[in-house]
Amino acid sequence: MNEASSGASFAKCCELLSQLETEHSLPRRAWRELICSHAPDVQSEAARRAVIVRRRFYGNRVFLRGLVEFTNFCKNNCYYCGIRAGNPKVCRYRLTEKEILAAAEHGYELGFRTVVLQGGEDPGFGDDELARIVEKLKSAHPDRAVTLSCGERPFEVYRRWKDAGADRYLLRHESADHAHYAKLHPASQSLQTRLECLRMLRELHFQVGAGFMVGSPFQTVDSLAEDMLFLCGFKPEMVGIGPFIPHCDTPFAQEKTGSVELTVYLLSLIRLALPDVLLPATTALATLDPDGRRKGLFAGANVIMPNLSPPAVREKYLLYNNKAHTGLESAESYRQLIKSLAELGFEAGSDRGDHVRSEQ
Ligand code: 5AD
Repeated sequence: MNEASSGASFAKCCELLSQLETEHSLPRRAWRELICSHAPDVQSEAARRAVIVRRRFYGNRVFLRGLVEFTNFCKNNCYYCGIRAGNPKVCRYRLTEKEILAAAEHGYELGFRTVVLQGGEDPGFGDDELARIVEKLKSAHPDRAVTLSCGERPFEVYRRWKDAGADRYLLRHESADHAHYAKLHPASQSLQTRLECLRMLRELHFQVGAGFMVGSPFQTVDSLAEDMLFLCGFKPEMVGIGPFIPHCDTPFAQEKTGSVELTVYLLSLIRLALPDVLLPATTALATLDPDGRRKGLFAGANVIMPNLSPPAVREKYLLYNNKAHTGLESAESYRQLIKSLAELGFEAGSDRGDHVRSEQ
């Protein structure tokens, strides 16, 4: 994207930011203008406002989620993703029920009150098996939230998982622009199906997460404006955005990396649009910039998702190159993480960290 030149003046941007803060949406043209205007002065003004809004809903609390990547088998062939079915170089793994429960238990002992089970769309992992695992996780610790992130499934499967006790579901929409979505995925996948899944999840009363990559190939200011319009309309309880990072064994190996600065700016705009949203400073952000997590938090993010997978499999869940999974990205550093959050003026939330629905 090289359209910053069409950006608006600082004064005009402040006006648009105020409008966004009061109306929680903007007309398409205004979104375009604001997105084009990601100069440092506008970005820091957006961040300043976003931090105030976050504080109003969540105080200085940041919620930690323990992420268990339970399978890297996937039937899909998303062009951007390192664990796509068409990548023969991936060393595939599928954790057993015992391993998943052990990883989650370890997380609970460390202090995590949300466990996120994320995996590819793996036909070899039974829907009922996952339901049983969710039931066991819930009965072991009723004060722990369970989030699932395992792609597109039929309504009945989502229902079974909800009935088993799952609380939240992450399913990034990837792009709300049909033409752009079609450039990121093979013809067997469609934005329409993705959106239908998000609506089903909502109907089943999951707390629902959507999101997209920043700087994915073929993304334009228009497609980003479409993403923002979608988020304002659907109002997900959670939004995950991170910079696109090429993976060497995908069709997008030679594509450009997404911008940390634009990601951080969009985090602030999302906070202003959806004041109560649960918004992670993502691993992709931390992968590209050692200071990425701090930048995300100071732009309005309030969630961090350290890796809780068994260390032996972490190297194998590479959605993109150099994915961070050690140091502060790993659950073992829980105490260190709490300490560094405290140094930044944040307190780690000690409960499930559910979405707080605001009045508007
Ligand atoms: N770069 C950044 N993010 C990626 N994801 C998948 N591949 C990449 C990549 N190459 C994101 C997608 C997916 C989430 C689990 O990870 O948005 O929904």
